[in-house]
Amino acid sequence: MAEIRIENVWKYFSKGKVAALKDVTLTIQDREFMVLLGPSGCGKTTLLRCIAGLEYPERGRIFIGGRDVTDAPPRKRNIAMVFQSYAVFPHLNVFENIAFGLRMQKRPNDEVKTRVHKAAEMMRIENFLERYPAQLSGGQRQRVAVARGLVMEPQVLLMDEPLSNLDALLRLQARAELKRLLQNVKTTTVYVTHDQIEALSMGDRIAVMENGQIVQADVPKQIYEYPGSHFVGGFIGTPPMNFMRGTVQSANGASAITIGDQPIRATLPEYVQVGQDLLMGIRAENIEASTNASPDAVPARVLVVEPLGSHLLLTAQVGDTPIKVQTRIDFPVEPDQTIYLKLEANQVRWFDPQTGMRYDAAP
Ligand SMILES: Nc1ncnc2c1ncn2[C@@H]1O[C@H](COP(=O)(O)OP(=O)(O)OP(=O)(O)O)[C@@H](O)[C@H]1O
Ligand SMILES: [Mg+2]
Repeated sequence: MAEIRIENVWKYFSKGKVAALKDVTLTIQDREFMVLLGPSGCGKTTLLRCIAGLEYPERGRIFIGGRDVTDAPPRKRNIAMVFQSYAVFPHLNVFENIAFGLRMQKRPNDEVKTRVHKAAEMMRIENFLERYPAQLSGGQRQRVAVARGLVMEPQVLLMDEPLSNLDALLRLQARAELKRLLQNVKTTTVYVTHDQIEALSMGDRIAVMENGQIVQADVPKQIYEYPGSHFVGGFIGTPPMNFMRGTVQSANGASAITIGDQPIRATLPEYVQVGQDLLMGIRAENIEASTNASPDAVPARVLVVEPLGSHLLLTAQVGDTPIKVQTRIDFPVEPDQTIYLKLEANQVRWFDPQTGMRYDAAP
């Protein structure tokens, strides 16, 4: 059992001037694949290093498998770490790269051989053991780095942006492959990335970080459909969620909100008052565009038309807010044209314009 429990962890740098982690609390279940996601500088690496024992928090406790490891050195934590920058050793072949940690522990040759083969099989690089890193693709090299961690049979596998030095296409392949291979590995995994697609596709759960704090931790579907804040909705999704600021016109029954001078009928959250400002969030694929006017559709002026192969991405202006709309590829539209938008009522989310937090409760 290797549940990781992080309790009220604070970490400061630069003599207390920089608070890199602010009261972080998170439980990662045994064998869970948890992704830490967030923009540059939000504290992802620092949190990972605290779990590893490479940094010590000023406040808070960290438990691995029920054991308080807050003050334990890295080697007493039964973890393995794969970094972006810790590429493999170029002068060692794949076998010796994977064997490295076991050699350091002076394990007998037989055991080294068995364990290296097992780890190499898990990562499907068993046919490359004699090769040198220069003779491998970027994705294969990355798998060698993962195998080097797994061979230590850690309870916890920590990975910091392991795919970030691969080019886009290779990264796509490596991502799917790594996900498939890690499904059979029974370790608790914490995976850091700032790539939201990687997070959505790989994580059992995602912990979104902003400015040293975890702002939402949930399964990918829930984070995508019910972002807990303006920040999360604006960070997750390609394109990110649209936000429009509006003023409540009438509450109870026939609810309406105006965006700019444009009235929109909508199901508003409970307890809002006439005259109150709200931030409305909706995703591009939850807006239906038409060239015909209808009573419940909002007129919008098309600014940009982007054909993306499988669909069109339109940028259209509602009031003075530009929003993104996804349509089928053959939707007949040109810049400057007026189109009519219907918002899928049950996909509209409401946020507080001051705090950015979501109003409506998620199901
Ligand atoms: N050793 C250090 N000394 C001083 N400040 C640091 C140190 N390490 C990190 N920081 C600061 O702590 C904050 C969090 O850094 P961290 O490396 O955890 O971010 P990150 O989320 O991993 O970012 P990135 O996506 O760019 O890797 C940043 O403001 C960073 O400048
Ligand atoms: Mg980092």
